Amino acid sequence: EVVYLNGQFLPPEQAQISVFDRGFLFADSVYEVIPFYQGVGFRLQEHLQRLAYSLDAIGLQAEQDWPVLLNELVRRNGGGNRSVYLQISRGSEGRRRFASEGKLQPTVFACTTPIRHIYDEGADRIQGYNVILTDDLRWHRCDIKSTGLLANLLMQQQAHRAGADEALLVRDGVLSEGTSSNLFVVRDGVIHTPRLSAGILGGTTRALILELATDAGIPCQETDLRPEALATADEVWISSSTRGVVPVTRIDGQPVADGQKGPLWQHMFALFTRFQH
Ligand code: PDD
Repeated sequence: EVVYLNGQFLPPEQAQISVFDRGFLFADSVYEVIPFYQGVGFRLQEHLQRLAYSLDAIGLQAEQDWPVLLNELVRRNGGGNRSVYLQISRGSEGRRRFASEGKLQPTVFACTTPIRHIYDEGADRIQGYNVILTDDLRWHRCDIKSTGLLANLLMQQQAHRAGADEALLVRDGVLSEGTSSNLFVVRDGVIHTPRLSAGILGGTTRALILELATDAGIPCQETDLRPEALATADEVWISSSTRGVVPVTRIDGQPVADGQKGPLWQHMFALFTRFQH
């Protein structure tokens, strides 16, 4: 295994950063998780656009030829199906201080882990998710892909303790997203998903679902969703880069509709499979 750190490709045990790195001390850093299938970045440009958005949102300048860097990292790790983690922090000034003085050298770190190629495995292999509902404990800038994920982790722990795979989050009486995924609710043949202005992460998989649905003539609506709407939903899905589009078949122990993976999900999964190849 080889990781990338500040211009070098290294074995992980040789990659070192300062204890004063602002990413470590303050989570003063942003990240991306990008799937590579057969060595090729999936929706790479969309991920890099979101990275630019996150960097800009925290006032961090870090210009690099990201595609070259990430492709080289994947190649050095043997290619194949991998998820790439890329993190950029504001760097270190050799001590802990809230206000950072001047312009620091950002810390750029990237690593990869092998992943399954979900769409190659077929819809039958996908298991419906069991989720819980919980209060959204996060801050108000969830549009930034920040490494400050403590609230996400606590809510994920809560889901895990309840024997669930993911938690769906409720803020001010409306659903926002999952701890590490976006949310979709299907009713009467229409795909509904929370608006970006509801303070959620603009998921690349979310955008692709809306794109594929629109191309296939399936109506989509970005709208406020109340938790009560789940009780009468035909289908519920979550989405993320590494998991793709996943059917939710249980919420707080109750089945979604008949508790089976729904037909529109099967359709969307097929659209993804075709899109990948
Ligand atoms: N998480 N919402 C949140 C809060 C997320 O953390 C993620 C992704 C998404 C989905 O975004 P995308 O479709 O671009 O992956 C939505 C990544 C996978 C993670 O933190 O590991």
